[in-house]
Amino acid sequence: MGGGLVDDGGARLIFGCMGLGGGWGTGPLEAAHVKAAHEAVDAALEAGIRDFDHADIYAHGKAEAAFGRVLAERPGLRDRIRLQTKCGIRLPVPDKVGQYDSSREWILAQAEASLDRLGTEHVETLLIHRPDPLARPEEIAEAFLQLKEAGKVGRLGVSNMSAQQMRWLQSALPETLAANQLEMSLHRSGWLESSVLVNHDDAAEIGFPHGTVEYCQAEGIELQAWGALAQGRYSGAPGTAETGSDAAAAALVAALAEDKGCAPEAIVLGWLLRHPARIRPVLGTSNPGRIKASGEAKRVAESMSRHEWYSLWVAARGRALP
Ligand SMILES: NC(=O)c1ccc[n+]([C@@H]2O[C@H](COP(=O)([O-])OP(=O)(O)OC[C@H]3O[C@@H](n4cnc5c(N)ncnc54)[C@H](OP(=O)(O)O)[C@@H]3O)[C@@H](O)[C@H]2O)c1
Repeated sequence: MGGGLVDDGGARLIFGCMGLGGGWGTGPLEAAHVKAAHEAVDAALEAGIRDFDHADIYAHGKAEAAFGRVLAERPGLRDRIRLQTKCGIRLPVPDKVGQYDSSREWILAQAEASLDRLGTEHVETLLIHRPDPLARPEEIAEAFLQLKEAGKVGRLGVSNMSAQQMRWLQSALPETLAANQLEMSLHRSGWLESSVLVNHDDAAEIGFPHGTVEYCQAEGIELQAWGALAQGRYSGAPGTAETGSDAAAAALVAALAEDKGCAPEAIVLGWLLRHPARIRPVLGTSNPGRIKASGEAKRVAESMSRHEWYSLWVAARGRALP
């Protein structure tokens, strides 16, 4: 990950593994979870996806463990795919509040634990999951370089960081950050609002850090979009898109899907791919049908007109652009 990919079918898509391993319950990893992981990986490969996104915390480590079992049961698969994991979030445990931790010790320990669960000697990319106010950039750099020199991590990236935070971290790093993973979708469109509402009163309502997309584009830092399917809100997830702008956008997604002969997921993802920042959607579905349908997104993006792209955005935002 982090650039240089051939743009072929699902190659721009990343499979997000948060849904593997049986979810966030505290029960053990079961054979059924491993079977479901095999099926999801099969569907992802069939859709042309070669990149898999993990985090130490997903399903309390069981997502990585399930994926590790898939790798162990399929010799040769590891060499055909790229792995990314994240660390830096400490979930709450009895007697300890949840916190962020980008200390050298925590990064080193968590990276080792992820490699162990995945049953691999290295991951292509390690992301710092969220900003830690107590972090020092030199410590993060030191931990990364130690892992890199040991052949355990290829590149370092971040998640949920602004351009300013990336510049701060970059100041201690000898190489360019590989990627920034942010929530970006037709629903969470602050990344667009922040760029078009410059000098506008409504800009005050936007949570997305202004200039982050542009900074990544200028520096050649890959933008990865988590929540890219908007949790199915425009593609038939039960209980969603029943009224207002959600319903209007879902209806437009459905009409375009029919027109282009694809699934609604491909429209929602194609809309992200149509943006020139070469955004890479991270799919969170573990449903094989939805994964395969997502593989059509590139074709959809290529045929999506400027009018269609803006119509989707305006429908989802629920009001005309200023
Ligand atoms: N960096 C970060 O802070 C961060 C945060 C969150 C996630 N992530 C990464 O990004 C990935 C994607 O994030 P996400 O899971 O929030 O986003 P998502 O892909 O937008 O949403 C996936 C969820 O929506 C459901 N869904 C999608 N379409 C549906 C439909 N038509 N009907 C019913 N349910 C539907 C999926 O269920 P099914 O599985 O049943 O389809 C799944 O639970 C994660 O796997 C993870 O790798 C990163």
